[in-house]
Amino acid sequence: MQKTIPVWDIWVRLGHWLIVVGVFFQQISGGDAEYIDAHATVGILLAGWVLFRILWGIIGPKYARFSSFPPPNPTRASKSLKRVLVRQPEKVPGHSAIGGVAVYLLLTLIVLTALTGMSSSDDILFDGPLASLLPAATVGLASTLHPILSDLLLIIVGIHLIAITWHVTVMKEPLIRGMLTGRKPAFDQEPGSPHAFSRVIFMRGLISSLIILGLTYGILGIYLGW
Ligand code: HEM
Ligand code: HEM
Repeated sequence: MQKTIPVWDIWVRLGHWLIVVGVFFQQISGGDAEYIDAHATVGILLAGWVLFRILWGIIGPKYARFSSFPPPNPTRASKSLKRVLVRQPEKVPGHSAIGGVAVYLLLTLIVLTALTGMSSSDDILFDGPLASLLPAATVGLASTLHPILSDLLLIIVGIHLIAITWHVTVMKEPLIRGMLTGRKPAFDQEPGSPHAFSRVIFMRGLISSLIILGLTYGILGIYLGW
């Protein structure tokens, strides 16, 4: 049995599965005028969660931090991708270099999709919370870009799912179990201090996520509203 260590804290894991449910809900509610209020609310909360994930990349535990998966340069990213293609697992407990690229892409696309949604208007039923603050041309552009970005997000999610399936079935890396239990093979690495399952990390994440979600929803959903 390989030694495992705490890698993904509760906030990374809970956040990941909430993002999955949220993005799925956005895809089915987006085209339906009847659900536009729920669509806008969930979209704003998704953007708030990504803001929290960015803060967590600075104040979270070792493997959640951006310093443990910095945006890779093209050489490092392509080396990492080649290793995946030749089925040679990278022996790291956290995100690999190419996995990190996917994380940055997914988080960026979620924020951009949400921002263009908030800046959209159909001139009849719906004005996003940012629409009244922006020039008409920008609102027009945001309304055109919103469905394009949400399609792009779907494509990257598709690639993410193919990659995860490859890692789990062909390369025999227990990534899904890791995103469920938080524990992953140690590969002789330390869990970091405070580690992902510590009480201080739990409390830090609870307080900072509530503040960021509250501020995001308070400003965009209630104060600016739609
Ligand atoms: C990650 C977040 C979001 C995703 C994935 C998403 C996805 C979608 C999708 C798939 C559609 C249907 C597009 C079509 O008919 O082809 C849509 C439409 C729409 N969304 Fe979002 N959305 C998000 C956030 C938001 C937010 C935050 C708002 C507003 C506050 C918003 C406002 C709208 C509006 C007004 C429409 C209908 C008009 C249009 O087609 O552009 N969305 N969204
Ligand atoms: C809407 C769909 C999805 C989105 C937007 C998404 C997004 C993400 C993001 C942003 C991360 C990075 C987590 C972090 O560092 O905070 C991640 C990691 C991960 N996702 Fe997803 N995900 C989706 C669906 C799924 C599904 C359906 C599965 C599994 C069946 C999955 C499995 C994983 C795993 C295992 C990781 C960790 C990879 C590693 O250990 O490096 N994802 N995903």
